[in-house]
Amino acid sequence: MSDIAIALAIHVLAIVLWIGGVAMVTTILLPAVRRLKSPAERVAFFDAIERRFAWQARATSLIAGISGFYLVYRMNLGAMFGAPAFWWLDAMLLVWLIFTLMLFIAEPLFLHKWFAARALRAPASTFDLIQRMHWVLLILSLIAVFGAVAGVNGLTFFS
Ligand code: HEM
Repeated sequence: MSDIAIALAIHVLAIVLWIGGVAMVTTILLPAVRRLKSPAERVAFFDAIERRFAWQARATSLIAGISGFYLVYRMNLGAMFGAPAFWWLDAMLLVWLIFTLMLFIAEPLFLHKWFAARALRAPASTFDLIQRMHWVLLILSLIAVFGAVAGVNGLTFFS
């Protein structure tokens, strides 16, 4: 039983660092870059700063994924994926899959190059796109956190 408590604590710690970082980047860093830098400088400047956070996000999403799958296995929750009352389980998995694909596959393989090339052609709209993508990911993440905590503690959204 205590292994479940420890895995849950590790899971939540990883989520705090990871989604907290996404919130910081979205609500503070990106608006500051927009205010302080010219459109032509924004993407490269943001890229230089965010690179460090990308490693933190990779490590914490990996820990969140491992602890999350361990919890599913130990709590026998596998059959609950797809059940409306447990939509928050699907939401967590979806958010994790999107970030994992972005951080481990799309970013290193092509997304980074694609953004850099697009920023040369259309700097202002590329920065807007980066900012919009961060908002979408942050909102999805917050929905997953809200759903998980409320769902685990007995709030039923759908029966
Ligand atoms: C592979 C991905 C993930 C899996 C398999 C997973 C699985 C789980 C499981 C099984 C629990 C315990 C549920 C319970 O106590 O009944 C849990 C808790 C939690 N998860 Fe995830 N999770 C994943 C990713 C995420 C993500 C991406 C977030 C946030 C965006 C998240 C946020 C939370 C939170 C806040 C809790 C604590 C709920 C509470 O105890 O009040 N998880 N997760």
